Amino acid sequence: MSNENIVWHEHHVSKKQRAKIKEQKSCILWFTGLSGSGKSTIANAVEVKLNEMGKHTYLLDGDNIRLGLNAGLGFSEEERVENIRRIGEVSKLFVDAGMIVLSAFISPFKQEREKVRKLVKKSEFIEVFIDTPLEVCQSRDPKGLYKKAQKGEIPNFTGISSPYEAPKKAEIHIKTDKILVEESVQIIIEYLQERGYLE
Ligand code: PPS
Repeated sequence: MSNENIVWHEHHVSKKQRAKIKEQKSCILWFTGLSGSGKSTIANAVEVKLNEMGKHTYLLDGDNIRLGLNAGLGFSEEERVENIRRIGEVSKLFVDAGMIVLSAFISPFKQEREKVRKLVKKSEFIEVFIDTPLEVCQSRDPKGLYKKAQKGEIPNFTGISSPYEAPKKAEIHIKTDKILVEESVQIIIEYLQERGYLE
């Protein structure tokens, strides 16, 4: 379908005005990492902390989005690309709403993460690499998915039969086998405080 008859409208309330009432700057905290790396756990804990601080947030995460907005998308390369594209656009809407959006997806491909980065202003995309070695994720195996993938019961499983391209220059790099969840939360909150996202 062509877009030739569709025109972008500017809104009368700006992103800055929406964010200002919560004394925050809107941004995307983009959590990437293997399945079982702790993305959701850390993103949830950061959201709790921000909420306690009176900040307006929203958490988007893999399983939930795949049960709703992206129901019907599987795990082939093409479908993961489309999954991240849609989530990128949704995250951008939350930024425009003046909110701090926490997006936690494996998002295994560097190129797709970089496309999301380019959807918003430079300071509005904060990549958080939840760096947990594959062996640790496999030993945790909270949903029993690695076991199934190794038996060949789940095709295209990230880290087993589908690639994960680790970020080389994430804004925040968390090595979960070295620190506790609370320390990870502290690192992320300090990053936001030091750069003026929470004032
Ligand atoms: S992606 O790669 O960004 O599109 O994946 P995402 O939307 O984050 O979904 C990841 C969750 O889906 C479950 N799951 C799989 N993960 C990886 N590979 C395959 N084949 C797969 N099949 C199902 C898994 O529970 C992931 O959740 P997390 O929270 O990452 O463990």
